[in-house]
Amino acid sequence: IDSKMTLYITVIVPLIVIGMSIIGKHLRRYGARTQEKMAELASVLQEGITGIRVVKGFNAEKLEASKFKKFADKYLHNIMKMYRVRRLAGPFNELIGAAIAACLLWFGGRKVILGVGPSPAEFMQYILTLFLMMQPIKAVSDKVNRIQQGLGAASRVFWLLDLKWVSAPKKGSIRIKDIKDGIKFEHVWFKYDESENYALKDLTFEIPAGSMVALVGHSGAGKSTTADILSRFYTPQKGKVLVDGIDLAEIEDSSWRALLGIVSQEVILFNDTVSANISYGDPNPDTKRIYEAAKAANALEFIEKLPQGFNTIIGERGLMLSGGERQRIAIARAIYRNPKLLILDEATSALDTRSEMLVQQAIDNLISGRTVLVIAHRLSTVLKADKIIVLEKGEKICEGNHEELYETCEQYREIYDLQFGKK
Ligand SMILES: Nc1ncnc2c1ncn2[C@@H]1O[C@H](COP(=O)(O)OP(=O)(O)O)[C@@H](O)[C@H]1O
Ligand SMILES: [Mg+2]
Repeated sequence: IDSKMTLYITVIVPLIVIGMSIIGKHLRRYGARTQEKMAELASVLQEGITGIRVVKGFNAEKLEASKFKKFADKYLHNIMKMYRVRRLAGPFNELIGAAIAACLLWFGGRKVILGVGPSPAEFMQYILTLFLMMQPIKAVSDKVNRIQQGLGAASRVFWLLDLKWVSAPKKGSIRIKDIKDGIKFEHVWFKYDESENYALKDLTFEIPAGSMVALVGHSGAGKSTTADILSRFYTPQKGKVLVDGIDLAEIEDSSWRALLGIVSQEVILFNDTVSANISYGDPNPDTKRIYEAAKAANALEFIEKLPQGFNTIIGERGLMLSGGERQRIAIARAIYRNPKLLILDEATSALDTRSEMLVQQAIDNLISGRTVLVIAHRLSTVLKADKIIVLEKGEKICEGNHEELYETCEQYREIYDLQFGKK
């Protein structure tokens, strides 16, 4: 309509576009960074949850909580920055809009009044069209963003709502520092909440301090359940576990866990350095002891070959280790901890002969001189055990050392031939 006015607009509009794109770039950058921080936060949380047995077993709840707080703070910091920019975008838009309006009114209006430009009606049309166009465009993009944010958040909420609560074991108050006499299972009955049958039936046995007791039995016999009850992940419905004569249920959680070392089949590595994974749960890691533990666990040879040695990041998001290497890190972790009571669930997965030998040596270094409950899948462990408990469908059917059981316990012979005979 008016060449000069359109010229102004063609000058001003690019300026706005540039301004907006600067803000937009910032927003995108913060957006991406916020996503990144969110992902970090989520992975810390996920590690903490999938590794909950390790976290609890190593008394590291506080540590994990502070790690979470650190990442949550970073996230908050970022999101605050993003909102600051985003909030700036609104007023910035308004300001620019108002400036354009003022310019248009000033130059255009003057022309209209002087009668050299378009007619008043045309001029109004021109301005209104311009502004009416801007609003919807802004609104649509805004709403699309909101809807996406909302959808993302909603799926999380539903996921959380679908989770079930697990009953936590009761809190004891007696603090203990050592295991002097040993551990006794006394007529322990245990049933999982969601199952019909008892997983453990009237289980009675002893682990004298300083000795190694091995559990053997077919899959589903109740071996892991027994280990989990001793770790205080579950509390028996009937019967008791006594530690030096004290009911385990009366013992304070963290004081009990401080005595425990748990090495489970499923090795949980955190997305952190080798050192941090070995000294996991220790707020003041000792470099020398980490080295010694790695050495005793036969892990030194491969750790020293890693790109940054002990400072190499391993775990789900870090460098991947082989099965045998993971197991040796887990064993080093237990050795570093120097536990009074070791609960060991030997891995069933076959390793190559060399790893098998290295892991076996590592386990030997770990168990010597400790009170140990081991779920034995290796013949050498079974042969070394002071006592073997044979479980079948939650019941103890035989008890004794290898020679005794091989003579007297038919089921033991059967398991022995099946599991170890071919080796
Ligand atoms: N979390 C669980 N919820 C319900 N039942 C379980 C759970 N864990 C194990 N069980 C059941 O308890 C019994 C003993 O299992 P488990 O102790 O894992 O045996 P094992 O370690 O000897 O293979 C099995 O019948 C198994 O199905
Ligand atoms: Mg098991």
